[in-house]
Amino acid sequence: KLEEYGLAFSDDLHLFAEEIFSKVPWKVSPRKQKTYENEGGTGTGSGKAVFEDQIEFIKESMLKVDDEMSIESPQISKAKSELETLHEDRRTLPIYAHRDSLLKAIEEHQVLVIVGETGSGKTTQIPQYLHEAGYTKRGKVACTQPRRVAAMSVAARVSQEMDVKLGHEVGYSIRFEDYTSEKTVLKYMTDGKLLRELLGEPDLASYSVIMVDEAHERTVSTDVLFGLLKDIARFRKDIKILISSATPDASKFSDFFDCAPIYRISGRRYPVEIQYTKAPVADYLDAAIVTVLQIHVTQPPGDMLVFLTGQEEIESAEEILKHKISGFGLEIPKLVICKIFSNLPTELQAKIFQPIPIGSRKVVLATNIAEASLTIDGINYVIDPGFCKIESYNPRTGMESLQVTSISKASANQRAGRSGRTGPGKCFRLYTADSYKTKFDDNTPPEIQRTNLTSVVLSLKILGIQNLLNFDFMDPPSNEALVKALELLFALGALNKLGEVTKVGRQMAGFPLDPMLSKMIVASDKYKCSDEVISIAAMLSVGNSIFYRPKGEQVHADHARMSFHTGNVGDHIALMNVYNSWRETNYSTQWCYENYVQAINKAITSGFFSHSARLQNYGSYRTVKHPWIVHIHPSSGLADNFPRWVVYHEVVLTTKEYMRNVTELKPEWLVEIAPHYYQMKDIKDA
Ligand code: CDP
Ligand code: MG
Repeated sequence: KLEEYGLAFSDDLHLFAEEIFSKVPWKVSPRKQKTYENEGGTGTGSGKAVFEDQIEFIKESMLKVDDEMSIESPQISKAKSELETLHEDRRTLPIYAHRDSLLKAIEEHQVLVIVGETGSGKTTQIPQYLHEAGYTKRGKVACTQPRRVAAMSVAARVSQEMDVKLGHEVGYSIRFEDYTSEKTVLKYMTDGKLLRELLGEPDLASYSVIMVDEAHERTVSTDVLFGLLKDIARFRKDIKILISSATPDASKFSDFFDCAPIYRISGRRYPVEIQYTKAPVADYLDAAIVTVLQIHVTQPPGDMLVFLTGQEEIESAEEILKHKISGFGLEIPKLVICKIFSNLPTELQAKIFQPIPIGSRKVVLATNIAEASLTIDGINYVIDPGFCKIESYNPRTGMESLQVTSISKASANQRAGRSGRTGPGKCFRLYTADSYKTKFDDNTPPEIQRTNLTSVVLSLKILGIQNLLNFDFMDPPSNEALVKALELLFALGALNKLGEVTKVGRQMAGFPLDPMLSKMIVASDKYKCSDEVISIAAMLSVGNSIFYRPKGEQVHADHARMSFHTGNVGDHIALMNVYNSWRETNYSTQWCYENYVQAINKAITSGFFSHSARLQNYGSYRTVKHPWIVHIHPSSGLADNFPRWVVYHEVVLTTKEYMRNVTELKPEWLVEIAPHYYQMKDIKDA
């Protein structure tokens, strides 16, 4: 029924909710738990059963070996030969020639920086070499990835190569999903996950080696790990730290780790011919689509990789391509369209690795994820519009936004390189040579300098780091951003006046969520609506991918979306309604409206009081604390209602600054809930 509404759910959502749910230390209304028992039959609420299916799916589709059939059927020889092929593949990787000298370097140095081109085998091979060399007898080997998808897909690949069941010797652990067991010795995980593990095990005693992979991505978690690992290495002489990166300039890593040696893996690279446009293109999406079609029709065989900025763009490109291709009829070879982005449901991710029918060509529409974290074989053509979406944060206003910006020269070169892995490649840059030279920065500024640090600061505080200004950051964030984070944590009640973590702060840190969402959940206990608020938090955590607006069906989709808004309940409650319908629980919107809306909205406000705005003239809004003009996103159920006061989940900058996920609030609540943040004068009518 929900599909009819144009809603796209993945099992992730279910897992998110369950994981958050399992972290709630207080007693929650029994209704939800009962539903779990009825639903899964497992009663544990761990979601493993659902997930196991997904894993099996990836494993099967990547390996194409059916364990059960192999016992008696002729498939067995096929299975063996596939494993044999995998082993041969391992030996042909550039890193293979370095195996022994690399292990020797690791043995001799506590910290080693490893540089090697994408696809040389760093991520999949180094942990296996370490296992073969006996490191795993002393403790687990962790390999961190900036992205969830990469951690999952690499772990699946390595488990195949080692011929073990995923989750046994080789596992992965990412936010909301832990696919490891007692047996696990090679653990692929997101950098954020390792950071969270550090909260429980500050010396990482159960690990013998930590490999911080894709270090060049410089995510906040990676940067914070650098500082913490440097410290751990000082008092744990037995731990090995490997920093691996795909960009040639690794001196910065080496300098930071007290002149750690750099080990270079010589790549195997074919020449890449780079073409620029003669004039700037007006619409890069359009230009990218035209280029795909031109390559398909005029160029020799070889797959294509197109870099786009996000899910929405990828999906609209897919629609347009499908439409255009159907116009050609049977005159041209088949074009298989694949896509990859972080929120893509697991079962669809494996598709990019699957072989395609002979005579056809594959086009992969990808976000930055394919720049370095994932290697797709057989790509000969790269189409690079030169943009990516990056997060930016204004510490003065506390405003975060995702902005489409020009990529850096380093990214452009990394993208181009993806075409020359298996043969000579071509990269079509949809910008001029002059823009590349004059408009592109050398490197993207590290995330830590352009993001909200609230969550990181809370983690560091829990780890006992009192003076953040003294923390050893590779590139320190601005003092302004740190102070802003401290202020917000204080306002949320997570820190006391002395800057120490409070009981509420510890409770909040127990959730793998942004502190504002955590506070909303903690506060829900007081308002007796944890069950509902957790559903909402889960919905907000999966990003904005819930409401689908397929091309040509926007009106229908909008209509469907509005049907969850009975009684102008606000976007948050609407999210909960959707979630509940999805779970097929039977409580009605009306009941919810009558009984729970105000409790719930107060809990939301407890977390998000700093995201409040009031109506101005002409339908625009002004944020309350640091005046800033914003608008209600057209996708909001309240877009045409113009409530006088609202609380919002986030601001995104597209054509305007839009507030996404908006709920009406009563201004008195601000003073009631956050008296240390708001005074009566803030809410008085101007
Ligand atoms: O980390 P690095 O970029 O150096 O290479 P890698 O991720 O270890 O990949 C080495 C090779 O493994 C790639 O060239 C792919 O052929 C293969 N691979 C794969 O087939 N499927 C994956 N999920 C990951 C890697
Ligand atoms: Mg890698």
